Amino acid sequence: MTTIGLYYGTSTGYTEEAAKLIQREFERIQPGMVTLLNVYEHDLDAMPTYDLLILGVPTWNIGEMQEDWQERLPQLAQLDLHTIPVALFGLGDEGGYPDTYQDALGMLAQLVRERGAQLVGYWPTTGYDFYASLAVEGEHFVGLALDETTAPNLTSTRIEQWVQQIVAEVGITADTPVSA
Ligand SMILES: Cc1cc2nc3c(=O)[nH]c(=O)nc-3n(C[C@H](O)[C@H](O)[C@H](O)COP(=O)(O)O)c2cc1C
Repeated sequence: MTTIGLYYGTSTGYTEEAAKLIQREFERIQPGMVTLLNVYEHDLDAMPTYDLLILGVPTWNIGEMQEDWQERLPQLAQLDLHTIPVALFGLGDEGGYPDTYQDALGMLAQLVRERGAQLVGYWPTTGYDFYASLAVEGEHFVGLALDETTAPNLTSTRIEQWVQQIVAEVGITADTPVSA
């Protein structure tokens, strides 16, 4: 069975809710494939043992990474993530923080690339309204940008589409391992 480690940090619960929705979408394919891991209580040592990693991070304090992720960054810097596909999602607020929108998503992308990870799940910026973001490369975010403050009604549709995109990109089917 494909194994997916979904690591997330959260300060007010929105990223955890999104993580559960993402888990539910993947588990339509195969129940039990996603392990949810809050980085507040789980260290990152097991990351290289999964077939696919999904990492969820909200941006806090005007362009900063959520505090539990910050605590784990020294561990992340020790990991070898070569050959592991990694999909990222972020929580942010484009109306309240349009100059630092989803910056933590961009920071985490840079850090996992430095560990050798292969990013999947880029997401178009079409339909978003902000001025600047460290998470944007060309016409895409480096992962799924979710916004429970400005666009909560779009979250479930975005997650459904994004999960389908990752399934196609990585090649996940029931009872087959992922090929990086
Ligand atoms: C004080 C404060 C600062 C924030 N700074 C940013 C920011 O710089 N960029 C952004 O996109 N969102 C920012 N946000 C919005 C949070 O990312 C958003 O509320 C998110 O849903 C929180 O996720 P969590 O509940 O999982 O912690 C900020 C929110 C607060 C309250």
